[in-house]
Amino acid sequence: MDNKNFRFETEAIHSGYRSGEHQGSLVPPLYQSSTFTFASAEQGERRFAGQEEGFIYSRLGNPTVKILEDRMATLEQGEAALAFSSGMAAVSAVLTALTKTGDHILCSQGVYGCTFGLLQLLKGKYNIEHNFSAMTSLEMLEKDLRPNTTCIYIETPINPTMKLVDLELVAHAAKQRGIPVVVDNTFCSPYLQTPITHGCDIVIHSATKYICGHGDVIAGIVVGPSDFIRRVSKTTQKDIGGIISPFDAWLLLRGLKTLPVRMDRHCENANKLVEFLRNHPKIEILYFPGNSDHIEDNEIMQKQMKKPGGLISFSIKGTKETAQLFMNHLKLIKIAVSLGDAETLIQHPATMTHAVVPEEDRRKMGIEDTLLRLSVGLEAWEDIKEDLEQALEKI
Ligand SMILES: Cc1ncc(COP(=O)(O)O)c(C=O)c1O
Repeated sequence: MDNKNFRFETEAIHSGYRSGEHQGSLVPPLYQSSTFTFASAEQGERRFAGQEEGFIYSRLGNPTVKILEDRMATLEQGEAALAFSSGMAAVSAVLTALTKTGDHILCSQGVYGCTFGLLQLLKGKYNIEHNFSAMTSLEMLEKDLRPNTTCIYIETPINPTMKLVDLELVAHAAKQRGIPVVVDNTFCSPYLQTPITHGCDIVIHSATKYICGHGDVIAGIVVGPSDFIRRVSKTTQKDIGGIISPFDAWLLLRGLKTLPVRMDRHCENANKLVEFLRNHPKIEILYFPGNSDHIEDNEIMQKQMKKPGGLISFSIKGTKETAQLFMNHLKLIKIAVSLGDAETLIQHPATMTHAVVPEEDRRKMGIEDTLLRLSVGLEAWEDIKEDLEQALEKI
């Protein structure tokens, strides 16, 4: 069965798996095995030499993990994929594969706090430079790219301010210089955005989030050209480690089956809550893709995102303490970092996910002390709204 022509919802359930090759098992089996036996010494030799396909040892590949990787490659419309033990293992594998001492990484205006931490580490230890760019025009990109830029690294929507980056614009500027464009697609999942179809080269996911969807796995995924994925698999991943466990891959395969229905519900709930929050007198600013005062963002959204997503950021009128007081009054909504789970979660980026970012850089990223990020869950939206309402009344 060639799955390539099915629609997203069908691929999310079937692609990369042929039950006939696994005793007819409807669900992909869990190969919870660290190593694989060879039929002979010669076969072992051939596998190590790359002369024969087949599994050797689970750090170098595992059948359950391979199904997940093939499915993610299909969903992101890339050539191949590699799964990791965390989103950060995926980010670090990609950035170290694309850079060496003296190189430069051009980043979107904001990045996840630990990605910021990794950029600092690469700079301090290996003299790999980076800077941040709003990337709003070709001229700005031309100005911010340097002769030693070997990689462009983007989050869109940017975490946590929801500002969008025009993927086609960046890909166009990068192509002229042969620089790969890497997109952290965690906030969208491939259901809402497929950066490779907009000319970008490599996609990263914290699969911990929407891909898993149930808050019980930490994992990462990289999708990209086959030669790049092979190189990362045979170098960074093989020798540094950071592989996903077969059980976590199995849970992600289960999560992926419901990704489209979950995403639709996350988005529907978020849209309704945006309507409520937008005009609330105690909310200073609301950040949500497509609902921006910046007309350019709305145009970018139409171009590259299927729907605005399930994340809403907003700043509360008052101080950091007011924002914290509001959080403490919530009853249904849980105070926790992470996103994309069935449960609605709220976090305070300045003291949580982006606490490692120095205050000056945080301000440049638009992360004020009163900013909160809400990951809208799958509960009845009225219950989420009523919880927000009663907590807002108390501040
Ligand atoms: C946008 C983004 N990228 C990467 C990561 C890192 O992923 P993980 O926590 O799975 O290592 C996160 C985690 O919150 C994230 O939000």
